[in-house]
Amino acid sequence: MTSIPDAKAPADEVVLEAIGLTKHFPVRRRLRDLFSNRHDAVHAVDDVNLTLRRGQVVALVGESGSGKSTVARLLAQLYPRTGGDIRLHGESTKVKAGTAFRRYCARVQMIFQDPFASLNPVHTIRYHLTRSLKVHGNAGSTDAELEQALHALLEKVALTPPERYLDKFPHELSGGQRQRVAIARALGAEPEALLADEPVSMLDVSIRLGILNLLRDLKERLNLAILYITHDIASARYFADQTMVMYAGRMVEGGDSETVTQSPAHPYTRLLIESAPDPDRLTGVADAASPKDNGEPPSLIRPPSGCRFHPRCPSAMPRCSTDLPVPLQIGDAPGHWAACWLYDTEEVAK
Ligand SMILES: Nc1ncnc2c1ncn2[C@@H]1O[C@H](COP(=O)(O)OP(=O)(O)OP(=O)(O)O)[C@@H](O)[C@H]1O
Ligand SMILES: [Mg+2]
Repeated sequence: MTSIPDAKAPADEVVLEAIGLTKHFPVRRRLRDLFSNRHDAVHAVDDVNLTLRRGQVVALVGESGSGKSTVARLLAQLYPRTGGDIRLHGESTKVKAGTAFRRYCARVQMIFQDPFASLNPVHTIRYHLTRSLKVHGNAGSTDAELEQALHALLEKVALTPPERYLDKFPHELSGGQRQRVAIARALGAEPEALLADEPVSMLDVSIRLGILNLLRDLKERLNLAILYITHDIASARYFADQTMVMYAGRMVEGGDSETVTQSPAHPYTRLLIESAPDPDRLTGVADAASPKDNGEPPSLIRPPSGCRFHPRCPSAMPRCSTDLPVPLQIGDAPGHWAACWLYDTEEVAK
């Protein structure tokens, strides 16, 4: 089996970029709407910029319905986009099906939340991995080479000895082992980027760390670019180099994970951090089940004007309900930004 083709590509090399990425899902029209000009749409993702680099993990954090999975599916080209661009190594890409889609998938692979649903229960691990190797032309030319490639895949995800797992069915494995198989299947394509949509949220807390450590190890060994989608901003600090925070379809803050999680600037990021379970606060009153505010995420069919967070924001100013905030540099930390008028220098000077 050949090694990962660009594993020696320089770390930090940009693999995948979203530029102004936008996705509006049309809402099905009711009979009475047919006679009007109304075309409602769910504004799931609006003007999202994101860069995935080799050897780095970018965490995408936000509450349910904020558009995280839609961003991942757009990047995987599973949905057509409404606007913006997706660039693979700087080249604009738009693929729908067929060979172009397969070629794209060989470079950009997705890992889903539920490993049980993503593996076919009637097929063995050997079948799943062989299929991935064959589809992407990495199965070698002889049975011995295929067997070697299968073993190498399972070894990469620490399912050893491989012969113990190859002929098992998904239901014979634990949740963590199934997720390792799903990761091995993605690696069968020898991808450059992995899009992991809440890869540990359905797993027992005790095995989450093992999977995150595996992904981190793969990032380093295979020089992968990883998008890590999560609700859990604490795990973003532990696992990701960069953290991006999304609210109601828009990016609101980004920067290196340590800065974003330790010195959050956007009021929404602060709220997320305050509502996250904190081991040091376990005896206290605050936990994830009692967030600091009672607000609800807004409707994405008619999202709030200006800053989408303004109806829930404790620091909202009059202009927040009318003007869309632009990303503003925060402090001296390089690359730390927030889309919040609180950091507009004119506002600060007032
Ligand atoms: N195929 C679709 N058709 C119509 N609306 C959709 C579709 N997929 C997602 N949406 C809507 O887009 C918005 C964003 O959904 P998305 O699944 O991306 O959020 P998320 O951040 O991944 O949430 P969660 O944390 O619950 O997984 C939601 O309002 C959702 O209802
Ligand atoms: Mg999701």
